[in-house]
Formats: sequence, C-alpha cells, structure tokens
Amino acid sequence: MADKIKNPIIAALDVPTAEQALKLAELIAPAVGAFKIGSELFTSAGPDIVRRVRATGASVFLDLKFHDIPNTVAKAVASAVRLDVQMLTIHTSGGAEMMRVAEDSAQKTAAQTGLTSPLVLGVTVLTSSDANTLAEIGCEPNPGKQVERLATLAVKAGLRGLVCSPLEIVALRRILPADVQLVTPGIRTGAEKADDQKRTLTPREAMQAGANWLVIGRPIYAAKNPRAAAEQILETLNWQPHPAPSPGTKEDVRRTGKG
Ligand code: C5P
Repeated sequence: MADKIKNPIIAALDVPTAEQALKLAELIAPAVGAFKIGSELFTSAGPDIVRRVRATGASVFLDLKFHDIPNTVAKAVASAVRLDVQMLTIHTSGGAEMMRVAEDSAQKTAAQTGLTSPLVLGVTVLTSSDANTLAEIGCEPNPGKQVERLATLAVKAGLRGLVCSPLEIVALRRILPADVQLVTPGIRTGAEKADDQKRTLTPREAMQAGANWLVIGRPIYAAKNPRAAAEQILETLNWQPHPAPSPGTKEDVRRTGKG
C-alpha cells in the first residue's frame, strides 16, 4: 500500500521545479521511504506536485510549517489531508489550542474522506535559531529548555510526532512517551562537503539515538549519484522492513490510543 512507508529515509525534494522534483523522485524512489515537499517546491509547483508524487505511489511529507490562528491552521491541515499526504508540519510555538485543532482536523478530515490521517508533526525551535534569536523574540533563551517546553506542550495538545535536531533526540526521548515519533533533519554521512548544517549525526547514529525518521536532503540530491547515495545510507541502517507502523495507519492510531 502506498501509505505504508517502506523505510525511515525521507528524501527532501529541495529543487525549484516540478520537472526536477519528479525526475529526482523517480531516480531514488526504490531506495527511500518517502519524499519531503517543502516551501520552495510547493510555492513554485503548487499542490499539483503533491498529487503527482503521490500518483507514483510514493508517500509524501508536506513540510509547510503552518503557524496561524487555530481556525486557519485547522483548514490548512484539512486541505493537506485531502491531498493525501502522510506527514505534515505545524509550529508548536503557535500554542496548545492551535496544535489541538490541527490534530483534530487531521483526524476528522481523514474520517470524512476515507483517507488515512497523516502524522501531524510539531516543529519546536528551528535549528537555525540560537540563544540570541530566542532572546530577541522574548523567549526562554536556552534552546534546549525551549525545545523541551514546546515538545511537552505539543504532546499534551495531542500531537503524535515532532521534528527535532539530531542532538535533541536523546533529551526528548528521556521526557516524552515512547510512542512519540521523532523526525530528524541535520543528517550527514561524512562523505559530503561542508554546508550550513552544523550539528549533525550520521543516519545510523540518529536512529540509534531514537529517531524514527530521517529527513535527508543534500547528502542524496547533491550527490554525484543520488540513487547510490540513498542506497548506501539505507545499507548503513540495517533496516528490517516492518516495525514502525506507517504514521497515521490504523495500527498507529490503535497503538497511540488516539483517533
Ligand atoms: O540538505 P539537508 O539534508 O540539510 O536538508 C534538510 C531538510 O530538512 C531541508 O529541507 C530543511 O529545510 C529541513 N529542515 C532542517 N532543519 C530544521 C527543519 C527542517 O534542515 N530544523
């Protein structure tokens, strides 16, 4: 089934056009579990790119990081569910009410349409933010503390998953229920040239630390041979195709007692 995500690698389609995205997706599809569509591609190619990637049978993580009044976020989430995505993001700094209605909207729209509810992931503190960024907007200036605060709030509000930096996985695993799904970007194999990701782990390290899903962009799409790069990463994971039920599947809903 298309929405059974087959491995933990989520390849970011961080390219500017639909043609480039579909070409990349076709090339690496056999080696990855899902594709992430973010603001750049979505803004240039529109919701049609989600439909076209889904039409290939691949799972989609729609990373638009919604943050607005609860009513607007609930409607945006409903629209994303109708696109049949398997994961989507909202900002936890939008507050508990915004998160509650987002999760609720995902469940209700899925039930109404007969689709499977996507995993609504909360984004805590962006990895580009540091103590200065947080202080300048009047937040708790310790990024670690702010992440823990927002993560705890997100889980209380009913979210079943979070996006976090690889270096936050261990601390979050200590304080969160074991069934909370952690999705982590900032993955580097060591083979690629230096870029803007500073606090990284290898794919294997991140999984061992407790991540469920890895978002990987440049180490795959900027590699000379993206398909080989994805296959090599998958090999390092020793992945057994089964344990984590795909986000939002019936098993997942049963396991978390929600829905
Ligand atoms: O190319 P790279 O592997 O760094 O891509 C990581 C992907 O994850 C990008 O699409 C980026 O926007 C996203 N991301 C991130 N850090 C966050 C949240 C999302 O790198 N905190």
